[in-house]
Parts: sequence; C-alpha cells; structure tokens
Amino acid sequence: MAIREIRKEGDPVLRRVAKEVTKFTPELKKLARDMADTMYDADGVGLAAPQIGVSKRIWVIDVGDGLFAMVNPEITLQEGEQIGPEGCLSIPGYSYETSRYEHVICKGYDLDGNEKVVEGNGLLARALQHETDHLNGILFVDRLRRFVAR
Ligand code: NI
Repeated sequence: MAIREIRKEGDPVLRRVAKEVTKFTPELKKLARDMADTMYDADGVGLAAPQIGVSKRIWVIDVGDGLFAMVNPEITLQEGEQIGPEGCLSIPGYSYETSRYEHVICKGYDLDGNEKVVEGNGLLARALQHETDHLNGILFVDRLRRFVAR
C-alpha cells in the first residue's frame, strides 16, 4: 500500500499532455496500485497518473461498481448531455455543476496490454471524461460554462 502525494492545481504536471504507455510492465501495475490506494485514501472515484506527478496515459476509476484501470484511453463515442456536480482531488474543496456527455464509449488497454472497452452513462460517463481530460492537461474547471455579467 502506497499513498502518493496528490498534485494540486497550479502544478505544471497537471497541464502537460501525458505520454502514451508503450510497455506493460510490473512497474505499470505498481503505479496503478499506488493510484488506487491514493484515490481510495482521498475518497475519490477516479485518479489519473499526472495527479501523482507521473505524466503517463493511465487512470483508475471506481464509481462504486469496482476498480478498473485503463491505459492509453480514448473516448470514441460521446452523446447526450448531463449536468451535475463535479469535483477533482487536485482542486480540493470545490464542486461545480458541470456539463458532460451523458453516454460515452472509451477504448484503451488493460494493465496486461489487452484491448479494453468501457461504455458508461451518468456518473461513470462523467468519470471517463474527467479522467481522460487529465491526460490531456485539462481540468474540469476548464469545462465550466462562462457566465458573463451585464
Ligand atoms: Ni480530477
């Protein structure tokens, strides 16, 4: 069990486009284990590697249906809309109503390098979008609608 420090907004690693994973090694599994330990310790439902300072394309998610990891994930279908509260372990203490696609399909690889497809609605779809955004240097606050005072 290894809980790692969660990087906070302002840390440049969160703004980098993470590197593709090319080798499925025991170290990758150890990284995923540390990410899961860190996520559960912080009561999160997802964590991306850049959030513990590792600029690689991998995240872990557990929205209550069990833990899974995805390597080199890509959202290949997105449709519908949902608006609901969203937060981020890298921006502690804040939650905002955030618009996301209601239904997505995400394709990538598991920790052994096998192709993996996850399809989700609602909270799972939100987590898939949120965590994949992290790998592209995007934070959920970037997705908030801008209200212009007048
Ligand atoms: Ni986040």
